[in-house]
Amino acid sequence: MERPAWAPRSIDISVPSVSRIYDFYLGGSHNFEVDREAARRAMEFMPGLPKIMQANRAFMRRAVRFAADEGIDQFLDIGSGIPTFGSVHEVAGRSCPGARVVYVDHDPVAVAHSEAVLAGNDDADVVAGDLLKPREILAAPQVRRLIDLNRPVALLLVAILHFVEDADDPYAAVAELSDALAPGSLLVLTHASYEGIPLPAERAEGAVDVYNNIRNPLIMRSREEIARFFEGYDMVEPGLVPMPRWRPEGPLEDDDPYAYSGFAGVGRTA
Ligand SMILES: C[S@@+](CC[C@H](N)C(=O)[O-])C[C@H]1O[C@@H](n2cnc3c(N)ncnc32)[C@H](O)[C@@H]1O
Repeated sequence: MERPAWAPRSIDISVPSVSRIYDFYLGGSHNFEVDREAARRAMEFMPGLPKIMQANRAFMRRAVRFAADEGIDQFLDIGSGIPTFGSVHEVAGRSCPGARVVYVDHDPVAVAHSEAVLAGNDDADVVAGDLLKPREILAAPQVRRLIDLNRPVALLLVAILHFVEDADDPYAAVAELSDALAPGSLLVLTHASYEGIPLPAERAEGAVDVYNNIRNPLIMRSREEIARFFEGYDMVEPGLVPMPRWRPEGPLEDDDPYAYSGFAGVGRTA
């Protein structure tokens, strides 16, 4: 298989990756045949997967605009993925010129492509980091340069926590990051769940197995388990809801039943 210029030498391009599968669902071009094959296999069980991803991105953009309207001008986006149309720095920069954004991902393609997109941008940067090592993220020079932890920050954990197994204690990682945030900060989160999926659970499980088989288990949590990530936060209205229902900016943007799979919410630190 030929290695395109944007693929770092360090990566094994014969193994599918979560960020490149996601890029494919969103219509991006930073994915390989192995990624597309895995994506298509999952879609045999859940044809509406791209709809879920689009609803996730649309929520993320509304939440970033909400944060900017609240006066937040710094964004820490962990599990940011491969940049694609409507990235956080674009959306935030439009609502709040000069907004600062740090992206964090552990996928080398996501990091390399973010570096390329952000070259020459003094207000945004990317860190190769792991959500499970919050101290390292907070100590990264890019974070220290762009984010002032004495002022409110929007912490984005969008479509990432369902890739962290309970054994790795995602709750502890979120709590450690949350402890570092100034009052008035926001936690912006989406998470996959069997709740709301317009299919019998056995079929949805087929799609989940595709991720398990590529050694990137997808952890479907209940609404109650997802709500626990917001411990210590006051929920912003309307609370933890299916993605299209979180502060739609017009008449409900999406009426595809798949878009109502999983949950989205924003919490504010007291
Ligand atoms: C489905 S994508 C979501 C991208 C973006 N947040 C969005 O919602 O459009 C999930 C991203 O999380 C990253 N990821 C998964 N586990 C991670 C971890 N422990 N630390 C950092 N990034 C992680 C993956 O590499 C992938 O790019």
